[in-house]
Amino acid sequence: MMGLAEFIAGIPKCELHVHIEGTLEPEMMFELAERNDLVLPYTDAAQLRATYNFHDLPSFLKAYYQGMEVLLTEQDFYDLAWAYLTRAHAQNVRYAEIFFDPQAHTSRGVCFGTVIRGLRRALVDAHRLLGLRAQLIMCFLRDLPAGFAMATLLESLPYKEWIVGVGLDSDERGNPPSAFAAVFERARAEGYFLTMHCDVDQENTTEHIRQCLDVVGVDRIDHGVNALDDPALHTEIARRGLGLTVCPISNRHVRGDLGHDSLRRMLDLGLRATVNSDDPAYFGGYVTENLLAVSEAAGLGEREVLRLEHNAFEIAWLPAGVRDTYLAELRAYGKDREVSSRAAHA
Ligand code: HPA
Ligand code: ZN
Repeated sequence: MMGLAEFIAGIPKCELHVHIEGTLEPEMMFELAERNDLVLPYTDAAQLRATYNFHDLPSFLKAYYQGMEVLLTEQDFYDLAWAYLTRAHAQNVRYAEIFFDPQAHTSRGVCFGTVIRGLRRALVDAHRLLGLRAQLIMCFLRDLPAGFAMATLLESLPYKEWIVGVGLDSDERGNPPSAFAAVFERARAEGYFLTMHCDVDQENTTEHIRQCLDVVGVDRIDHGVNALDDPALHTEIARRGLGLTVCPISNRHVRGDLGHDSLRRMLDLGLRATVNSDDPAYFGGYVTENLLAVSEAAGLGEREVLRLEHNAFEIAWLPAGVRDTYLAELRAYGKDREVSSRAAHA
């Protein structure tokens, strides 16, 4: 009989919260450093990985921005995205919405076009060769001035067809959503979907979530776990049917636990919670490992895992026809499972 681990491994998946720069594994970092004539201050990938010991968002971000300095050419961005996409495909991810942080590259002298052309080419190849569909979400760095975010938004416009939405990430402390209201208003006018990070247990977290809802009018919230702290917030999120992209293993690194009780509560409240990997190369778990860890900790069964993936495909920024195809595949997976478990019990 199939166990939960096998059920999770096989389920058709939708990943909505993964930073492409956060998929840069230490081995690839060394390969790219060598290709670009850079010397890393570590002897090898294992030694670098051993330094990954994060206790909050800033301690992670320091390693994250340092790590991505090896990304210089279009081919580097292609290789990075291709490596993620092949891994995701091996985990039965059918569809992914992938964040990228252009300002973390343009501020180092790498052209916006270099970044997005490399990423885009990998996405096109993944669809053609693996049948894995993916779209890009451009994130603004909230610890840099809103003017830089606006300039980046304008720089993205020639590539609008390759970007499905915009997000807001990096250090949340003292950098509220309202500071970026004008940027997001313009992004909306340009046809982008809107999301923002509300990381777990941040200072003024419930006020930031409120601003996402009332000032910015987001289509989704990334993390958003602290919406549970205020009934007015989670009631409104439920009323609007907004999705929350929860990242359990990432939570463990920034707040000390997987947030499994919160995930269970979100499901009980009927919120459209989903499970995602965030920065898998740094936190040590892709989407399958996240689903497994949180399911075991929260005591979730197959029905809840099906619900999580159903939520993800439902809130994905996809045309209705494409979404329906994925939902039908998911339904078939659940039905097959019922049939085989009935046969096993017969
Ligand atoms: N939060 C904020 N910024 C980030 C994250 C995150 O989880 N990952 C990469 N940049
Ligand atoms: Zn994130």
